[in-house]
Amino acid sequence: MSLPVRRFDAVIVGGGGAGLRAALQLSKAGLNTVVLSKVFPTRSHTVAAQGGISASLGNVQEDRWDWHMYDTVKGSDWLGDQDAIEFMTRRAPEAVIELEHMGMPFDRVESGKIYQRPFGGHTAEHGKRAVERACAVADRTGHAMLHTLYQQNVRANTQFFVEWMALDLIRNDDGDVIGVTALEMETGDVYILHAKAVLFATGGAGRIYASSTNAFMNTGDGLGMAARAGIPLEDMEFWQFHPTGVAGAGVLITEGVRGEGGILLNCDGERFMERYAPTVKDLASRDVVSRAMAMEIHEGRGVGKNKDHVLLKIDHIGAEKIIEKLPGIREISIQFAGIDPIKDPIPVVPTCHYMMGGIPTNYHGEVVAPKGDNPEVVVKGFYAAGECACASVHGANRLGTNSLLDLVVFGKAAGDSMIEFIKNYGDLKPLPENAADFTLARLSRLENQTGGENVDEVRRELQRTVQAHAGVFRTDALLKEGVDKIRAVAQKVAKTEIKDKSRVWNTARIEALELDNLIEVALATLISAEARKESRGAHASDDHPERDDDNWMKHTLFYSADQRLTYKPVHTQPLTVDYIKPAKRVY
Ligand code: FUM
Repeated sequence: MSLPVRRFDAVIVGGGGAGLRAALQLSKAGLNTVVLSKVFPTRSHTVAAQGGISASLGNVQEDRWDWHMYDTVKGSDWLGDQDAIEFMTRRAPEAVIELEHMGMPFDRVESGKIYQRPFGGHTAEHGKRAVERACAVADRTGHAMLHTLYQQNVRANTQFFVEWMALDLIRNDDGDVIGVTALEMETGDVYILHAKAVLFATGGAGRIYASSTNAFMNTGDGLGMAARAGIPLEDMEFWQFHPTGVAGAGVLITEGVRGEGGILLNCDGERFMERYAPTVKDLASRDVVSRAMAMEIHEGRGVGKNKDHVLLKIDHIGAEKIIEKLPGIREISIQFAGIDPIKDPIPVVPTCHYMMGGIPTNYHGEVVAPKGDNPEVVVKGFYAAGECACASVHGANRLGTNSLLDLVVFGKAAGDSMIEFIKNYGDLKPLPENAADFTLARLSRLENQTGGENVDEVRRELQRTVQAHAGVFRTDALLKEGVDKIRAVAQKVAKTEIKDKSRVWNTARIEALELDNLIEVALATLISAEARKESRGAHASDDHPERDDDNWMKHTLFYSADQRLTYKPVHTQPLTVDYIKPAKRVY
């Protein structure tokens, strides 16, 4: 069966910060660009980013881009690629000023310059003291950024296909990417979107965990499509647990609370981070703080009836500052914890927040995959940016506020690379006869199979498995059991069917299609984690407690077809400055 075809220069899948920044570049260059989004673009998950975007503007205290670079390399536990990290941190100040000039309503310091606050792992002079580097719009920075970028795209005449879900990547016989299949959710119609270049900016996949700060739509769609099309997934064992999710609800409480002076307390009222990170205390890197909290809870110093969380105290900074700088946090605490932080501490617990791994790219936003002896051959026509991509600037652990920076720096870089590529492209390459067969077979299985598995039940089993077996602390036995269990879940996913055919056009069908993506991410996570026999950044193994640079300073690549792992070297050479040599990571 053939499908209707629509033709573009560029198709961008995802309407969050990275997708919109790339789209702006392409539309302003006069290219026929469409952005596909499962939700209205200003509801993309970038909207939930709270605390800030990092840039060494030095508006409060002296700061330098190379200190930002050092902190990012150290934060990554030396798994980040130093060329990409230099590229991002050097460009941070101009990226933020550009947003300011687009109209992003940053808070201001006395002098009128952009307001900056301290954040975890942001230091001056290579760890000597905390520095104010997070440029903030109160505690709603992502919201302000997303709206600014959307408005700029409207002005640049970007086309939006809203409530559309991309289903599969289309590659020709040369392996070039030449489009996607996509579902218009309102009508249930499926199309081929034929293009010269495709960018995935589909965001994260935190919904593989039962408890996550991620939106329900964060189901790893880009990763699932890439994996099914033979592209490996990089460093999927590294998942960030944000120290402060509201206990029991998972909703994010920004690190900006600690940046503004908030402190973490155990059941004895002790500021326990003084023991774990004597220099920067509550502002250590996220993996360090999350592990410290988990230790306190594990050793019986948790708070509450079940001693299963700790407290985040902020009342001492005063009601006025809370209302001015943290209004959203106050609202969230009241709504989700029944606590007004002006009076009482907020109950918090480490919660899955961010995926450091993703679709492998270089710092130009081009997707790369191994071919022969070369570990990084460009996949023509295919680009990725934002959380779904692995550039790799975050390595084994991301610093807070480097995510919004990543979106705009690599969104723009990918847009520029696509413009160059499209300029020399010529006519659209022909679509293969079977371009839509794979998608149609998936849809047919979901809709016609009977006696199959229930999507909702299988998704919950997937989430419980990942939560239990790939959490803050891991062991060989736990991971091995997790791999066996997730493989069993994968067999059920292959037999899912839409039980309630009357809901076929919308929710049930979308949830079933998302599950095909979640399982790719979950398999990649557990299989990659089980293989890595060391502790690095967010991957903390009780059986291998030390970082092992001799054997494991390398990126993991997971291939879905045969569930195989290979490895590739970390880029240790920055672009213009000296290599930052591995050192013990203390805060
Ligand atoms: O804590 C926060 O505001 C989150 C920021 C981030 O993940 O970068």
